[in-house]
Amino acid sequence: MGDCMGEQHLFDELRIGSLRARNRFVRAATYEGAADTDGHITPEVMRIYRELAHGGVGTIITSFAYVRDDGYHPSRMMGLDRDELVPAWRELVACVHEAGAAIVAQIAYCGAGAGKGPFAAPALGASDGTSPDGTREVRAMTRDDMDAMAADFAAAARRAQVAGCDGVEIHGAHGYLLSQFLNPVWNHREDEYGGSIENRMRFPLEVARAVRAAVGETFPVLVKINSSDGVEGGMTEDESLQVSEALAAYVDAIEVSGTTYGKVKISGPDGQHGLYASYAAALAERVDIPVILTGGNRLCAEMQELLDTTGIAGFGLARPLASEPDLIAHWERDAGYEPRCVSCSRCFPGPGRNCVLDRP
Ligand SMILES: Cc1cc2nc3c(=O)[nH]c(=O)nc-3n(C[C@H](O)[C@H](O)[C@H](O)COP(=O)(O)O)c2cc1C
Ligand code: SF4
Repeated sequence: MGDCMGEQHLFDELRIGSLRARNRFVRAATYEGAADTDGHITPEVMRIYRELAHGGVGTIITSFAYVRDDGYHPSRMMGLDRDELVPAWRELVACVHEAGAAIVAQIAYCGAGAGKGPFAAPALGASDGTSPDGTREVRAMTRDDMDAMAADFAAAARRAQVAGCDGVEIHGAHGYLLSQFLNPVWNHREDEYGGSIENRMRFPLEVARAVRAAVGETFPVLVKINSSDGVEGGMTEDESLQVSEALAAYVDAIEVSGTTYGKVKISGPDGQHGLYASYAAALAERVDIPVILTGGNRLCAEMQELLDTTGIAGFGLARPLASEPDLIAHWERDAGYEPRCVSCSRCFPGPGRNCVLDRP
C-alpha cells in the first residue's frame, strides 16, 4: 500500500527511498531547451533551476537528459551521456540544494519520438518504422542493441549519482523508447519482447534492473509511466498496472502520467484537472512505494482531497511551475491561491520556460 490514509498534508515531507523532500510537490520534468547544442548545462539552465528551488518546490525532476547522443529529441536538451558533463551537473545540484530542494535527473532515449534532426542513422526503436513526424527511419533493436541501451541508461544514472543528484528517474512514458516497447501501436515484435504485456515490459524491466545494479540498493530510482497510452490500440490501464507492479521491484517511486508523443499532446487534454488520478489511486493500493500523480494538478484543495482519500503520496506539476516557479511558496502562504496557468498548452512542445502569459 502507498502512504496510509489519514492526517497528511501537502507540506509534509515526501520520502522516496532515502530521499527526504521538504514537501509533497514535485516539479515534473519540463524540457527547457536551455542547454548548449552539445548537452552542456548553461547559465540559463542554472537560472531556471535556482528560481524553481527558491520557489519552494520539494523535489525538482530535471527535463529529460539523453543517455546516448543519437537519442535526443528537441535541440538544446541536456545530456548525461558522457563523463565530461558531470562537473556542471554537480554545480546544478549544489545550486538546487542550497535553496533546500531535492533534484532528480530524468534520463531518456527519445528514439523514434525524435524527428530527423542532424542524424543520418536510423533511430533505435521497438520495431522498424518511421518517427511520428515521418522524417526519421526507425530500426528495430537487436538483442545486442538492447544490452547496449540498458548499459547506457545505467551509465547515465550512475553519472547522476556521481554528480550528487538525490535520485534518477527513468523516462518510461510518453512514447519515447521504453514506452514504445510497451505500446502495441509501436511494438510489432514477434520475439519475447513483443505480443503479451509480459513480453512488452521485458525490455523496460531490463533497463530498470540495469539502472538499479549501477546505482546500488539505496540510491533513489523513480520511473515515469503512462497510466495508459491514450491512443487506440495502445497500452491499457490494466496492462499499465501490471507493468508498474513489476517495475516496483526495482524502483523507489512511480510517477504516473499518460499520452504518446506525436499522437496526443504530452501535456494532456487542455484545461482539465486531476488527469490520471483514478489510475494513480488504484496503483497506490497495489504497490508499497510512493506514487506521484502528474497531470492537471492545479488546486491545493483537489490535491489535499486526493491525499486524504487515496494512497497517492506526491503531486507533480509541469506547466504551472513553468508559468510561476514560486507557486509552491504562494501556496504555503495561501492554500487557496489560484495559479495563473490555464493549461492552454501553448508552451508545448517547448521550450517550457516561456509561458504565453509572459510573452509580449
Ligand atoms: C513544455 C513541456 C515540456 C515537457 N518536457 C517533459 C520532459 O522533459 N519529460 C517528461 O517526462 N515530461 C515532460 N513534459 C510533460 C510534463 O512533465 C507533464 O507530464 C505534463 O505536462 C502534465 O503535467 P502538467 O499538467 O502539470 O503540465 C513536458 C510538458 C511540457 C508542457
Ligand atoms: S502557456 Fe502558460 S498558461 Fe498556457 S499551459 Fe503553458 S504555462 Fe500554462
